[in-house]
Amino acid sequence: MQVEVYPDAQGAGRAVARMVARFVQVKPDSVLGLATGHTMAPLYGELVRLHEEESVSFKDAVAINLDEYVGLGTGHVDSLREFMMLRLISQIDLPVSSFNILRGRAHDLDSECERYAGVIEAAGGIDLQLLGLGRNGHIGFNEPGSAADSRVRVVDLTETTKAVNAGDFRKINKSPAKGITLGVADVLDARRIVMMVTGWEKAEILHRTLTTAPTADVPATFLHPHSDVILVADREAMELFYEREREQSLSFSLAPPTG
Ligand code: GLP
Repeated sequence: MQVEVYPDAQGAGRAVARMVARFVQVKPDSVLGLATGHTMAPLYGELVRLHEEESVSFKDAVAINLDEYVGLGTGHVDSLREFMMLRLISQIDLPVSSFNILRGRAHDLDSECERYAGVIEAAGGIDLQLLGLGRNGHIGFNEPGSAADSRVRVVDLTETTKAVNAGDFRKINKSPAKGITLGVADVLDARRIVMMVTGWEKAEILHRTLTTAPTADVPATFLHPHSDVILVADREAMELFYEREREQSLSFSLAPPTG
């Protein structure tokens, strides 16, 4: 895993935006695996700016989002679909028809998972997968206990995730109990993975992720064996790692942990 550390969340967002922009410039029809969450806000703001001011185009790209809440979807302000529409898709030239996200309001959720697996396959797989990190080590909605070979599926959200995300909702007054998500194996199939982690609230789980060998207890540790993973973090998120591991460098290659 390559680790790149920036002074703050804005700097981390700008760095990942540059990576994404370079990606679509080199391969205009890139398949981008996109994520939601507060961490992604500076990134999407910067991508919109790069589109408006530096003519970065997404018109031939395909977006495949990571997850959604069960019960939420099109037109629901609290859905992850609306988060994406508002912050990114409606502000760049990626056609809405090329924007894919799981339908949390599908009547038959198993068929929805199958449909989505087909979307990924038809797109030729994900070139660049963006990930945030949950405070309990989840990636997407792959909560602790998720298997390395898990695929697109419906999951029960943990109490931690429900509590942390509760503040994000405008219309609903209770966190959804279930999510629908790409599996760990779907994430690992991506050709390149960029995980963004910012803020002191993530320092403990990031230290644990970086120093723990792959285990379902911390699903983000499944990223270690992947051959092309970049962690883009800010100083706050790296604080405990720097302190405990006596590391100071802002850019380094991390050997896969064995313990
Ligand atoms: C959420 C999402 C994840 C996201 C993570 C971190 O529950 N399902 O995809 O990456 O938790 O979110 P945040 O960036 O708001 O801390």
